[in-house]
Amino acid sequence: MQIKSQLNKIIQDSFKAVDITPKSVIVSDATKPEFGDYQYNGAMALAKELKKNPREIATKLANELQMHEIFSKVEVAGPGFINLTLNADFLAKNLPTALNDRAGVDTREEPIKVVVDYSSPNMAKQMHVGHLRSTIIGDTIANLFEFLGDEVIRQNHIGDWGTQFGMLIAYFEENQKDIDSKLSDLEEFYKAAKGRFDESEEFATKSREYVVKLQGGDESCLKLWNAFIEKSLEHCQEVYDSLGVKLDKSNVKSESSYNDDLANVVTQLEESGVAKESQGAKCVFFEDSENPLIIQKQDGGFLYATTDLAAIKFRVQELGAKRICYVVDARQAEHFKQVFATAKKAGFANEDTMLEHIAFGMMLDKSGRPFKTRDGGTVKLIDLINEAVVRAKEVIKKSDDYSEEELENIARVIGIGSLKYADLSINRQSNYIFDWDKMLSLDGNTALYMQYAYARINSILKKAGEFEEIEPILGDDLERRLALKVLSLEDNLQKAYTEAMPHIITSYLYELAGLFMRFYENNPILKDDVPSEVKKSRLVLAKATANTIKTGLGILGIDVLDRI
Ligand code: ARG
Repeated sequence: MQIKSQLNKIIQDSFKAVDITPKSVIVSDATKPEFGDYQYNGAMALAKELKKNPREIATKLANELQMHEIFSKVEVAGPGFINLTLNADFLAKNLPTALNDRAGVDTREEPIKVVVDYSSPNMAKQMHVGHLRSTIIGDTIANLFEFLGDEVIRQNHIGDWGTQFGMLIAYFEENQKDIDSKLSDLEEFYKAAKGRFDESEEFATKSREYVVKLQGGDESCLKLWNAFIEKSLEHCQEVYDSLGVKLDKSNVKSESSYNDDLANVVTQLEESGVAKESQGAKCVFFEDSENPLIIQKQDGGFLYATTDLAAIKFRVQELGAKRICYVVDARQAEHFKQVFATAKKAGFANEDTMLEHIAFGMMLDKSGRPFKTRDGGTVKLIDLINEAVVRAKEVIKKSDDYSEEELENIARVIGIGSLKYADLSINRQSNYIFDWDKMLSLDGNTALYMQYAYARINSILKKAGEFEEIEPILGDDLERRLALKVLSLEDNLQKAYTEAMPHIITSYLYELAGLFMRFYENNPILKDDVPSEVKKSRLVLAKATANTIKTGLGILGIDVLDRI
């Protein structure tokens, strides 16, 4: 259920009674518990505009709001803040909705079609940590949009076209007999090809010839190239499957798939006057930037940006996307800014198409340097994922009475969950300090803390057996606040949706679990002296909390465990 929009509407309506019509009303969360649950701070700005006393406006409005049954307390503070506390009965009445299979969250009123472009590795090499953030953040964003009812098209814009493929084909040719064994380790294959390229002028020339042949559509080159992409994708799929992200072959829409449209894109940009020739290249210039966007090189070759422009055309005109989210490293900010501006100018996208670069910071090690292996190499993603599972196993082994199989399964859920949660729980725009110990810790805002909270509630519920899912009686303020927190899931998901910010969800879940723990310490559930109606109420609260945690983690692509 959405609470804030209800409050906004109530305030807007109450303004009518005092003869004021504000353009918009926005309540915010109270900054401190003693200020109630929400605050409305708009009276000050309105007073200024109407040349009136802010406290007077606030008081009049508060008197009006007071009469509404949703509030238990309406208070004017300071120069004209209005502090709002919600009625326990209102929360109690709505709480059972949080027990349903969507934890009480409705879908958006006007769902739209969205493309989420994420993961998008380059095929020349095995996936490395640079692709981890895009894959994890992108999958969560796609899950969130889908959960709220949008039609989501996941697009893996793999980089499968470029000069490096000439080199790889040349190396293929040299080693035809054992292509399969060579390809089993892509990293090695790439390195070996690169080694040959650097050491032999003859090999380098051959590589360049192959690029031309490949791009000219030579059949045998295309066949080799295809085999290579296939193999690369198999490696990616292994990563996706072990991470449990929803990407497979059907989501691949490669750079090369736009090749046939690139010449058109350039012609259209030239004819519409958006692109101009400059020193033999075709460029788009911008007032606010020294660097133009190059869409065709002097030698006729097309670029990364040209493909992205063709992809926008496809996504808007063929797929019908209203919002397109690019989950890509922050360092590509200028590229996307220019590509988006160009697409709008050229009419490849509509005026109201939302084109968004969902930028994220770098992944750093504990000492703040780019994340590398001990000997300075790039960390392969699959190794990192496997290590997460091994480390999770170490953490849980201590408290074990599990079979080997159970242990493996639990370690996987916790290890992968931790890897995802750690990444998602910081503001994506910041750099991300990768720290195994912190990530797998039981205290703090971690997957394990959340999974543990869930398992704990689950064991309470199991012990309780069947119970009637009544409308709870919210006995004290802790219970009232817990109910409010549970019912705030939708508001938080909406905010995360608008801003495409997954950490809004993790922060919310962390607060929810913390509040539950406090509630549970103070308000026992299963003790003998708890009256049966109180017990039922508290069980409903516990169940709603667990369901909310499970739903929230589900959107983050993180599983829960019934027991840990
Ligand atoms: N392949 C690119 C890279 O690894 C990312 C592609 C992102 N998507 C896009 N439409 N440009 O840097």
